[in-house]
Amino acid sequence: MSVKMRVLEALQSEDPVSGALVRGWVRTRRDAKGFFFLELNDGSCLGSLQVIVDDGAAPEAELALAQNGAAVEVEGNLTASPGQGQKWELKASRLKLFGGADQEAYPLQKKRHSDEFLRGIAHLRARTNKYGAAFRIRSEVAFAIHTFFKTFGFHYVHTPIITGSDAEGAGEMFRVTTLPLGHTVKDKALPYDEDFFGRESNLTVSGQLEAECLALALGRVYTFGPTFRAENSNTARHAAEFWMIEPEAAFFDLNDNMELAENLTRAVAWHVLENCMEDLELFNRFVDTELLERVKHLAQGEYYRVSYREAIEILAKSGRKFEYAPSFGLDLQTEHERFLAEEHFKGPVTVYNYPKAIKSFYMRANDDGETVAAMDLLVPRIGELVGGSQREERLDVLQARMAELNLKQEDYWWFMDLRRFGSAPHSGFGLGFERLLMLVTGLANIRDVIPFPRTPRSLEF
Ligand code: 4AD
Ligand code: MG
Repeated sequence: MSVKMRVLEALQSEDPVSGALVRGWVRTRRDAKGFFFLELNDGSCLGSLQVIVDDGAAPEAELALAQNGAAVEVEGNLTASPGQGQKWELKASRLKLFGGADQEAYPLQKKRHSDEFLRGIAHLRARTNKYGAAFRIRSEVAFAIHTFFKTFGFHYVHTPIITGSDAEGAGEMFRVTTLPLGHTVKDKALPYDEDFFGRESNLTVSGQLEAECLALALGRVYTFGPTFRAENSNTARHAAEFWMIEPEAAFFDLNDNMELAENLTRAVAWHVLENCMEDLELFNRFVDTELLERVKHLAQGEYYRVSYREAIEILAKSGRKFEYAPSFGLDLQTEHERFLAEEHFKGPVTVYNYPKAIKSFYMRANDDGETVAAMDLLVPRIGELVGGSQREERLDVLQARMAELNLKQEDYWWFMDLRRFGSAPHSGFGLGFERLLMLVTGLANIRDVIPFPRTPRSLEF
């Protein structure tokens, strides 16, 4: 009887196991006389299992193909390893080759490859320690987020990916159409008459507006899905396709909202410290030696809050030469955000009450007539992690603001209806999932925390 095990279970075994059967991919192979060593990894954890394969474990031709990158099954006894560096090893008396890998052609060699090179082989890079760890952490963080919201009574809702509305009004949307390239509009026809939906449609930039509908029925909701932005900013923190977590809660004011964003960030930091230590240590060793300290600080340390007005004063008095001089009414640039989080507060800081002119139409007007109840949570190394606000729930105030901005109310008729029927104070925010992952892995480029990144002029397959 064979005992099927994943590498993780084999490595964590309490006792020797006879007839252990493990499947995975060969990471390295070392030949000796009459046997050879394999390091076998199956993605269940960072570690690989040392396997000692007898020369009689399979026909010679098959054994010859069990090289770096090959997929194999091995069976034998899991025994205490006399060697250094591992508790257990598998003495394989049987090997089955699923698929070999031509050593001349296989791009992943033993040497350390550059991130750049590995981005070019996104279909294979998850087989390296670094990307395997990044994508395992990605999975764990998603799980932590769902757990957090469940604990606090938030319902998980799904908002559309194809949408007829523009949530952010920034016009950076990808069009969805079935019309052929070069399609010309018939005389007197409307541009989208012949298109699939009979109207303009795009990929969503945010599920917020739809989440508001659901929050005003289900109370506390959140979305967690892909969002798309056609902004042509080729930075290390922007992707054209990224995932966003958007909670929206009825009867939450700006303070409740800030607290929710802080608690969510804290909970994720705790979760990875408790569940991903092996992978985190890899990043702490090879990517960012201050990572563990920073994640611990996120879990236990202080979170600060400062109004936009105070933030501008801090920046102006800092004596620092910024590329863009800070001044009331201008949006904070990444250099400002990072200065606040990294150097001034030395920790996460929420900036709130921004000037209305630089924020979206749906944010709640403050009594000062100048600012809105907006909030951005800024963190070291990244800058903006979260953007959100209390929403304008007063129909007349919203209508006046939309008129000022030349937004057509009929395009948002359903959004206005929410303010007509049972309107209530409510708040929400969007947290960029990849930016959160950059924060807890130390990886400095967004392209390295999403398996198949999409950025301007870059879409491999
Ligand atoms: O600040 P943003 O644009 O806010 C909204 O879209 C609101 N409708 C959210 C809401 O209130 N429900 O985006 C929210 C977050 C940012 O703070 C950032 O972390 C992330 O989404 N983000 C991006 N992440 C990666 N690539 C991009 N191009 C991003 N744009 C925004
Ligand atoms: Mg924002």
